[in-house]
Formats: sequence, structure tokens, C-alpha cells
Amino acid sequence: MDNLNWKVVNPDGKYRVVVTKELPGKRWLAILTAADCRIEVSTSTHVLSSDEIQTALGGRCDGAIGQLTEVWDDTLFQVLKKAGGRAYSNYAVGFNNVDIAAATRFGIPVGNTPGVLTETTAEMAVALTFAAARRLGEAERFQRQGKYTGWLPTLFMGELLYGKTLGIIGAGRIGAAYARMMVTGHHMNLVYFDIQPNPELESYIQAYAAFLKQQGLAPVSCQRIENLNDLLKQAHVVSIHTVLNQSTHHLINASRLACMQENAILINTSRGPVVDEAALVAHCQTHPNFKAGLDVLENEPAMKPGLVDLENVVIVPHIASATSWTRQGMATLAAANVAAILQNYPVWANPDITPFLSDNIPPAAPSILNAKALNLKQLGDDGEILTFERSKSF
Ligand code: DGY
Repeated sequence: MDNLNWKVVNPDGKYRVVVTKELPGKRWLAILTAADCRIEVSTSTHVLSSDEIQTALGGRCDGAIGQLTEVWDDTLFQVLKKAGGRAYSNYAVGFNNVDIAAATRFGIPVGNTPGVLTETTAEMAVALTFAAARRLGEAERFQRQGKYTGWLPTLFMGELLYGKTLGIIGAGRIGAAYARMMVTGHHMNLVYFDIQPNPELESYIQAYAAFLKQQGLAPVSCQRIENLNDLLKQAHVVSIHTVLNQSTHHLINASRLACMQENAILINTSRGPVVDEAALVAHCQTHPNFKAGLDVLENEPAMKPGLVDLENVVIVPHIASATSWTRQGMATLAAANVAAILQNYPVWANPDITPFLSDNIPPAAPSILNAKALNLKQLGDDGEILTFERSKSF
């Protein structure tokens, strides 16, 4: 390995673990060190190519922690397996960059980092929603450029969201957290599109509606919509919280954008390719009252031609999970995934991963995506080893 770009922690550790980027905090290193791992960390900020990762894995590697910017495909899992690899964790909750089927074929458990991104990512979706609705990027640029010459009744008029209709695509953990923030904070009525109903979210909003009624206020509503186009027609704000896979690639395309209200707001904190970015650019060019807030891009870090010039789009560089608490929590979970598998521990059965953030880490891998396919044992809340009947939902 090129010593200039790699640092080694706990050099005498028994298991060799390759980590393709420096991660925040120190706890993740302590977890791997306690599991007798020698940790080799790439200190480079450029995205490692497949060749560079293959070289890093080398002839002997027990486990790896990779990034969402890398393509962990059949080739990489084959190299990892050949090197004696037994564990991989993505440093992300999303795993569209990982060929889980290939990892499973090579018998390699794949971990991810759910639970610690939920509120952080939802808060960024809220921030983007209001930044787009109230034209914050555009207004700030105007101010900094010295263009503000005095208050005007019509300067930078935006959209009021209070009491309007919110549509979410994907009502999993992050989508539901965002919906709760927007509904309870701004009395929005919720419509959601998801292959599965979310009864907890529905009853939460019903209870909130009852509370509002009790206060003499108009109640809010919540409805699952089976046809995405119907949701797009109804909602003033549409926020995307789905995973990226073949069925969600370009889910929002030119014809779906055409279904949306002329002054609607589209927010994407999931994965860029869920939106046809060229179609979004064309739509925003021809619909100046339409607004978008993007944390993710179709071909990161590049922007499709024309996007940079659009004043009605707020864009940030994939930072929705970027708080210290979350990024350190992600590092803890990724390290715990790899450390647990190398120590032959079972997989955590409870979707609540908060015990891994406490001082005593449970003897389990917090989240392994192909645990069932690999028939790994699970650890229940009360310490018993379970079969997959009580398996968790991701
Ligand atoms: C993830 O973990 O999938 C996020 O996109 C990182 O911000």
C-alpha cells in the first residue's frame, strides 16, 4: 500500500480491516481495536477506484468498510473473499452502491448504518423545503451582491406551507420523521405513497388531529395514496424518501413532473437517480414558480447542464446526514457490524440500534442486510438467539 495515503491503527491486531475513508470520531476505532483488528484507513479524499480498492484489499483482508461513492460489485466481493474477507459494512444507510446478491453468493455479510440518520436527514429535508419555499438561496445571493436597495411589498415572495398538503414518497423511518416534523410543526395534511402502509405514522397523525380538534383548531389528515400521479397532483410539497433500485430509477420524470402543481415544491434527500435531473432542469426552466430542494444529484458530484443557473432550485452537496452525532454514529455502527461478524457474534434482531450508542456495545452486529439470506443467527432483546421469524424490517 502507498504509505502516504493510508494510516494504520492498532498495527498488531489479528484481523486486517480496510477502511476506504477516514471516519469521524474515535469510538469506531476503539470498537475495531477491542475486536483485535489492525485498521488500515485511506486518508485520501478522492473516491477510490475499484483498482485502488482491490490493491488495498490485497492478498489478506478480513473485513472492509466502504463508502456510498464506491461500487461494491461482484469483482470487489470476489477479491475480498479471496483475501479471506468475512465482513463488509457500508458507511451509509443506503446500499444502492452494493451488489448484495454478489456479496451473498460469496457468503459475505453486508452491514449498513440505519437509525442514526433518521432525524438528521429529516431535518435537512425540512431545511430544504423551507429554503425552496421561501427562496433562501436566491434571496441570500441577492443580499450578498448588494442588490437590496430597500424593503418592497413584493420582494422575494414565496410559498406559505401552513395547512397545505404534504406528499411523501416512501414512508420508512426518514420519510415518516420528516412527515411528523412537517405535519405537527406546520399543520400540513399528509398524503403518502409507499408499497407498505405505515400504521404507526397514520395513528400518530390521527392522535395529533384529535389534539388539534381539542384545541379548537382544524384537524390534519393522513392518507395513503395508491397511485403516485394522484399524490403528485394533490401535494403542494413532495418529498422523496425511497431507496434507489430499478423500480425507483427516474421515478420522477418529465411526465410525473407535469402532473405536479405549477407552484409545487419537490425535495430530494434520498438518491439523485430517483429524479430524472435533465427533466427536472427542463421543468424548472419552463415553470418558474415550481421549486426544488436537492441534497443529491443524479451523477454526483456533477450537475446536469442548466441546473446551476436555476434560481428556483436550492442545491446542497449530499450533506443531509452531516451532523457530528450522526456521522460518528454511522462510524460506530459500521465498525460494530464488521467487529461483530469477525468475532462470530449474531445479528441484532431489534430495529432500535440505540444500545450500540451506549457505553456497552451489545455482542451483535447492529444491521446486516443479507442476514436472512446467509441464515445468520440473531440476538433478541433479552439475549436469546433467535431464528428469522422475528426478523427486523429494514
Ligand atoms: C446514506 O447513509 O445513505 C446517506 O445518503 C448518507 O448521507
